[in-house]
Amino acid sequence: MLSVSLTSRSWAFVFLVISAICALFTPIAAVKHENFKTCAQSGFCKRNRAFADKASELSSTWESPYRLDPTSITFDNGKLSGTVLKKINAAGEEVKLPLTISFLESGTARVTLDEEKRQKGEIELRNESKARKERYNEAEDWAIVGGLEPSTGAAISADADEGTTKVVYGPGGKFQAVIRHSPVGIDFRRDGQTQVRLNGEGLLNMEHWRPKVDKPEGEEKPEEPPAIPFEDDTSLWEESFGGNTDSKPRGPESVGLDITFPGFEHVYGIPEHASSLSLKQTRGGEGNYDEPYRLYNADVFEYLMDSPMTLYGAVPFMQAHKKDSTVGVFWLNGAETWVDIIKSKSTANALSMGVAGHTDTKTHWFSESGLLDVFVFLGPEPKDVIKSYSELTGYTQLPQEFSVGYHQCRWNYVTDDDVIDVDRKMDKFNIPYDVIWLDIEYTHEKKYFTWDPLTFPKTEEMHKKLDEHDRKLVAIIDPHIKNVPDYPIIEEMRSKGLAAKTKDGSDYEGWCWPGSSYWVDTFNPASIEWWKSLFRYETFKGTFHNTFIWNDMNEPSVFNGPETTMPKDNLHYGNWEHRDVHNINGMTFHNATFQAMVERKKGEVRRPFILTRSFYSGSQRLGAMWTGDNQARWDHLAASIPMTLNQGISGFPFAGADVGGFFGNPEKDLLTRWYQAGIFYPFMRGHAHIDTRRREPYLAGSPYTEIITQALRIRYSLLPAWYTAFHEASVSGAPIIRPNYYVHPGDEKGFAIDDQLYIGETGLLAKPVTTEGATSTDIYIADDEPYFDYFDYTIYQGKGHHKIDVPLEKIPLLMQGGHIIPRRDRPRRSSSLMKYDPYTLVVVLGKDGKASGELYVDDGDTYDYLEGASIHRRFLFDTETNALTSIDIGTSGPKTPAYLKDQAKVRVEKVIIVGAPDEWSGKSEVFVSEEGAKESQRRRAVEMAWFAGPKGKANYAVVRDPKVSITKGWKIDFA
Ligand code: GLC
Repeated sequence: MLSVSLTSRSWAFVFLVISAICALFTPIAAVKHENFKTCAQSGFCKRNRAFADKASELSSTWESPYRLDPTSITFDNGKLSGTVLKKINAAGEEVKLPLTISFLESGTARVTLDEEKRQKGEIELRNESKARKERYNEAEDWAIVGGLEPSTGAAISADADEGTTKVVYGPGGKFQAVIRHSPVGIDFRRDGQTQVRLNGEGLLNMEHWRPKVDKPEGEEKPEEPPAIPFEDDTSLWEESFGGNTDSKPRGPESVGLDITFPGFEHVYGIPEHASSLSLKQTRGGEGNYDEPYRLYNADVFEYLMDSPMTLYGAVPFMQAHKKDSTVGVFWLNGAETWVDIIKSKSTANALSMGVAGHTDTKTHWFSESGLLDVFVFLGPEPKDVIKSYSELTGYTQLPQEFSVGYHQCRWNYVTDDDVIDVDRKMDKFNIPYDVIWLDIEYTHEKKYFTWDPLTFPKTEEMHKKLDEHDRKLVAIIDPHIKNVPDYPIIEEMRSKGLAAKTKDGSDYEGWCWPGSSYWVDTFNPASIEWWKSLFRYETFKGTFHNTFIWNDMNEPSVFNGPETTMPKDNLHYGNWEHRDVHNINGMTFHNATFQAMVERKKGEVRRPFILTRSFYSGSQRLGAMWTGDNQARWDHLAASIPMTLNQGISGFPFAGADVGGFFGNPEKDLLTRWYQAGIFYPFMRGHAHIDTRRREPYLAGSPYTEIITQALRIRYSLLPAWYTAFHEASVSGAPIIRPNYYVHPGDEKGFAIDDQLYIGETGLLAKPVTTEGATSTDIYIADDEPYFDYFDYTIYQGKGHHKIDVPLEKIPLLMQGGHIIPRRDRPRRSSSLMKYDPYTLVVVLGKDGKASGELYVDDGDTYDYLEGASIHRRFLFDTETNALTSIDIGTSGPKTPAYLKDQAKVRVEKVIIVGAPDEWSGKSEVFVSEEGAKESQRRRAVEMAWFAGPKGKANYAVVRDPKVSITKGWKIDFA
């Protein structure tokens, strides 16, 4: 018998194998909330909070120990430089902190503070560390891609008060920076009113370098008390957590600063958290959090709802908003960061310097290491702040058009036949979709860039089958490389020295899906070059022109590492500690894959599509993100709306949550509601954990499958509107889905609303149903425009909440008066098959009888649009002329004529006018004139039908097939 023949050694082996298998499938189950630090468990967080507590306890007697030496100030080419002096002990000894304040042409101001000793390398590292001595100063190399031109108009003003320096800058000289010398602090004003204040609370804290003085053993002599008594030294030199010890060779190095928004009640941003859009207070009290918002990218298993706990990505960009003013700050730092938020009644003291308003929002930011580097944006509107931020960190990539369609994923489609079968069934049930995804099981034993020879022997046939309907395949590639012999990728990576290193400089080994692994260090330019070589069609065999990539686990996730990631004293390229760059790590991996996909084949220049889980400021340039491992629960569905809205206003709008919920098996009504909500995520993908039951939409059965299909059809028919919104994001940074405050910045009642959304500029307003068993929902209307139900034109008008009945098949979706929405109504299997389909224009008349809208089109695949291969039209319905016109607002270039020729036959086949006036009731025709038409065709009559709306519903009219080209200017005359 087997059991008898097993020796104790074999038992050990069996046990090991079983544990390894368990480890492969359930290692994340071991990750509990206790595995992530609270503020009190993170030394610098505790110290900075203690610092703030002390300042508040001492209140008016507290004085920040930082002053700007007035004799050091110089101003040149839009930049003020000087030295801040930090008093470090009772004897009055000071350390030098070089300061710059740069005023940029865009109206943005940037404040940096460094530490002279570290800058000059005049410090000693402990534990024979090989780490760099400077404060990390390369975050900008990863995050910033533009917008740094110095202001030509910025100048020091002569009318500064005693003890201050004043700089006038920004558009029309409307902005001022009032720099107080002692203690140092800056008020940023617009039109004379302070909008953003730095160090107003005196919490500036730059932990300067100091040698560790070991107390001689046994000697209990009390030390001289430090100037800052709450700089407790228990966590300064070493920190242990969850069995890992951080050697901290540079000692304490944190940077902290308070940033006050006087008169502002709402702050938004700093994703990623499963929290409300309007951020909560973090210092306790009813309805508030006790912990600061944390930014330390991590693979958090079963994340908590309504929590400031860190998640997978970090964007340290915050906006403050009040009626008719929006401002913002960007804290450029790649290290672990926490943000405390306190709101208090405005105090009209001398320091307020002309502040109006009722509430001040005081924020307190601190990072473990690096420079202090803050950008200040003075608005005045939400769109201005996001535009300025995007100018710096880059705009959203204009994506592959297919990626705006529906993505079908699960962990895992198990064979190539399985993929083909799902594809066939989606067709059989007429469910549109564009992409099917392969999770980690497609690989041969978790070795990336290989295919399991038993389950995926027919990669070419599989890709071809998908290509028949212009569909794509996305395959996962993670940053951990399996540590096994005879795997050329690991051999190459290690022999070329491209792996991330331990503090001693040896290759860092840890555990992830494949078991023992090493991590590619994508901070290293040589790693990026090597990574590029791996994605070529001839090297990554089995991939084709319709294969795209998914980057996961790039926080990085390390199952046996501290807080499921790398030790902070690990070293990256240039000998920067992992501590310095942790939050940027995910973006560098995403970037390497992006570079690789651009160069997949010589001469083939196509837009990559790459999904990432971890992200930082700038990741929007590289692809899409999703909100990670959520659960099949109603509260997770609800949380996905503020989370995606937050991504949108934080410059990374190509976002979505796993439709259906990753963990668990959703009931059918939850699944259905999730699809109905998911059609409003800019990135829409159904995904599920390996242990869940299959749940492709056709499996749900009647009526669920039909309802889900209907929802997906709405997504597909609105693809022209979505793609136009993506284009706008790619040139202005504007969110793709927008919260109420963004669309109605003057409507105070709507500032905290985060469960409904507008799609781009379309006026489409959706309120996804996210509660179990809901029969009705309330939608909030912020203005006095008429809003019309998308499906039956029921009219909702008047500021406030309106009730909508929501039987399961109902999607609460309204059209705000004043807009024109482009659609493509012919059902197709995938988005690319719609390329030459005609358009329907839905003209939704506003209360003034007018409407306007836009359409942007290009090939959705290459970069030809940069050379003019695109169509960009504005449609206008005007009451004066009583006509609908199409106007060219595109940018032409060498490739314009060829593209227009390609699209010449694409026409508008239908115009629907919602809210069509009663006077049209007898009308049966309209007159169409088109640019370049033959004489006989100059003014063609086209049939129109007018329909009276029953009670409570709008009249509408339909112009049938005006046959006007999408490439041309034209006019439809309703007079
Ligand atoms: C992570 C991802 C999840 C994926 C799984 C296996 O948990 O977040 O989406 O399915 O890894 O690759």
